Formats: sequence, structure tokens, C-alpha cells
Amino acid sequence: MKTAIITGITGQDGSYLAEFLLNKGYFVVGLKRRTSSICTDRIDSFYDHANFKLRYYNLNDSGCFYRLLLEYKPQEIYNLAAQSHVKVSFETPEETVNAVAMGPLRQLEAIRAVDPTIRFYQASSSEMFGVNPDAPYNEESRLMPASPYACAKVFAHNLVNNYRESYGLHASSGILFNHESPRRGETFVTRKITMAAAKIQLGFQDKLYLGNLDAKRDWGFAGDYVEAMWLMLQQETPEDYVISTGETYSVKAFLESVFETARLDIEKHVEIDPSLFRPQEVPYLLGDSSKAKKKLGWKPKIKFKELAAMMYSYDIKRIRELAFEPKGE
Ligand code: NAP
Ligand code: GDD
Repeated sequence: MKTAIITGITGQDGSYLAEFLLNKGYFVVGLKRRTSSICTDRIDSFYDHANFKLRYYNLNDSGCFYRLLLEYKPQEIYNLAAQSHVKVSFETPEETVNAVAMGPLRQLEAIRAVDPTIRFYQASSSEMFGVNPDAPYNEESRLMPASPYACAKVFAHNLVNNYRESYGLHASSGILFNHESPRRGETFVTRKITMAAAKIQLGFQDKLYLGNLDAKRDWGFAGDYVEAMWLMLQQETPEDYVISTGETYSVKAFLESVFETARLDIEKHVEIDPSLFRPQEVPYLLGDSSKAKKKLGWKPKIKFKELAAMMYSYDIKRIRELAFEPKGE
């Protein structure tokens, strides 16, 4: 039985990847940082699985990582942990960069020392292309990061390449474009919109405040994207891959799609809040994942409209259940 370690297990991608690997028969060690509230909603469905173990880890903690490698002897490591919110990275740059850039450095050093045959996946990001005007972006496109988060991701991305070349590690970066799901964090724009639409529809909220509606993103489904992470680590040769849908839509288009499904009036319920704009914006992201299609045989299954509808229908059902379920005796 193969053993995989996943950092960031409590996040959107961590939970989908763990389910995917458990279904493939892996033993999965999920790493969670200590938080004052327990926060395991996304992993509750497999928390008690016989092949799953939850352990504590923080991206700042090198010694902890070394001990985990010695204890579990994994064949694969997926580094998904990060302070992943771009706007928050402008507010907490030092914490973000320490986690996002230095975390993978500490992990790669541990792999090199403990067992250089361990295969490593790094969660790189389309945010690294930033303000590069020449979309669509592929693996060769110039990185022009536009936030502390993206600068730190570029560092980690380059480092993975450096450790691969210098020490022969099987280390790959997936340059993933935005991917969403009903498990998306509630402060990212898609989930903020689907939750607000559900609450407005049920009468629990009146206004939705948003920032820049003109930004365009290449939005896919997280459940599709974790398969690509796994495929990268099954290749004989480690390489970097762009993972995207090849279609781009504005935030406004996502809003319109959800409000149309919910039969809500944007004019009546949505207001622009200038405090939600970023010091520097990434205006346009569009990926070219031809390499992943050709070499990994990967392609996205769920596209924009279906994704928006899926997220809204999950939220309306969940909020209805929370609000109207019988409270017992
Ligand atoms: P997410 O939902 O925000 O999850 C991030 C995970 O990292 C959470 O489990 C979080 O723990 C954990 N974490 C944060 N700081 C940590 C620290 N100092 N030490 C240990 N764990 C820490 O993010 P996601 O959407 O699943 O994304 C997964 C990875 O892919 C991230 O690296 C992200 O930057 C990258 N990425 C995401 C996208 C996307 O569109 N989703 C696209 C490209 C790249 P808590 O639950 O305690 O907060
Ligand atoms: N979060 C948020 N909240 N974004 C808003 C809002 C709002 O109220 N209003 C408009 N936006 C715009 C942002 O300015 C941005 O242009 C776009 O919506 C998407 O914002 P997010 O959903 O926060 O995602 P992101 O694109 O900044 O970053 C996500 O994708 C990256 C990959 O491209 C994150 O998942 C990153 O971790 C990931 O690397």
C-alpha cells in the first residue's frame, strides 16, 4: 500500500485529494495546523477511514516534518498548505511569504535528507503570471507576480525546479488556475456569491458587497484538478504542468449566472465596496493546458455554468437545512 502525506488537509483541495487517494487504496496522512476551533468540516466524511490519519503540522516547523517522514515513510507528498488568499497576503505579507515560500523549502530539504526518492507535488498558481499581458499562459510563459502571495509562489515554483535539477528529486509543480467547488473557502469570490445568493433567496441577507467585477478568471472544478496532481506524480519524469479549462469569464459573468439561477435582481442586491479592491489586481487569467492533455491524458470535466449551478444548489440546500431543520425536543 502506498502512503501519501497531504499538507493543508483541511482546505478545499486537501479534502478532495484525500478522498481521491483513499479511493485508489492509499494510506493518507493528512496534516493540519492547530487552530482554536476544530475546523474539520471538509474532512469529516473520511476522518474515521481505516487508511486515514490526521496529524498536526505547521509550515514553519521543520523538525515536525522530518519526524513525520521518518515515522510514515511516504512515497508521495502533496504540499497544498498555504495562506492562499491573495488580498489577505497584502495585509499579512510576512506570514504569507514565510508559509508559502519557506514552507516548501523546509519540506524539500527534509526530503533530500531523509529519502530523496519521495515524490513531491507543489501547489503552484496561475497568480504567478500576474500582469503578464500575453495570455493564454503555458508552462513557458513569463511570471510577473502582482501580490506578496504570488511572489512567494514564484519563489517556491523556482525552488522546485532548482531541487529537481540540482538533486534529481522527483518534484513537480502544478500551475493550477482558479478552481472552485461547494467546499471553496467562503471569502473567495465564487463561494461568497453563491452563499449570498442562497441567503438572499431564503430571506437571511439583503445585500452582497463585492470589489472588482471586471477581473477575468479561468475557473474549473477542484474535484477535477486533484486528479491532475496525482497524475503528475505517477509520471516517470518530474515536470511542471498548467492545469486549466481554457475558458475565461469575468466575476460579473459568474455573478450573473448565479443570480439568474436564483432568480435574483443584481441591481437590487449587489453593491460595490471600494475596500474590496486590491492594491494591485490581476486583470485576466487564461490557461493553456495542452501539455497536461497530451502527457497526462488530463482534461477538465466540469465547466463554468455547471460549476456555478453546482455551488449555488449546494449552498441553498445547506442553508435551508441549517435554518429550518427540526431542533429536537
Ligand atoms: P485553502 O482552502 O485555503 O486551504 C489551505 C490549507 O492550508 C488549509 O488546510 C489551511 O489550514 C492550511 N494552512 C494555512 N497556513 C498554514 C500553515 N502555516 N501551516 C500549515 N497549514 C496551513 O486552499 P485550496 O484552495 O485548497 O488551495 C490548495 C493549495 O493550492 C494552496 O497552496 C493554494 O495556494 C494553491 N492554489 C489554489 C488554487 C485555487 O484556485 N483553489 C489555485 C492555484 C493554487 P486552515 O484550514 O487551518 O486554514
Ligand atoms: N475574494 C474576493 N472577494 N474577490 C473579489 C471580490 C470579493 O468580494 N470582489 C471581486 N473580487 C475579485 C478579485 O479582485 C479577483 O480579481 C477575483 O474576484 C477572484 O478573487 P478570489 O476569488 O479571491 O481568487 P483569486 O483569483 O484572487 O485567487 C485564487 O486563485 C488563485 C489562482 O489563480 C486563490 O485560490 C489563490 O490561492 C490561487 O492561487
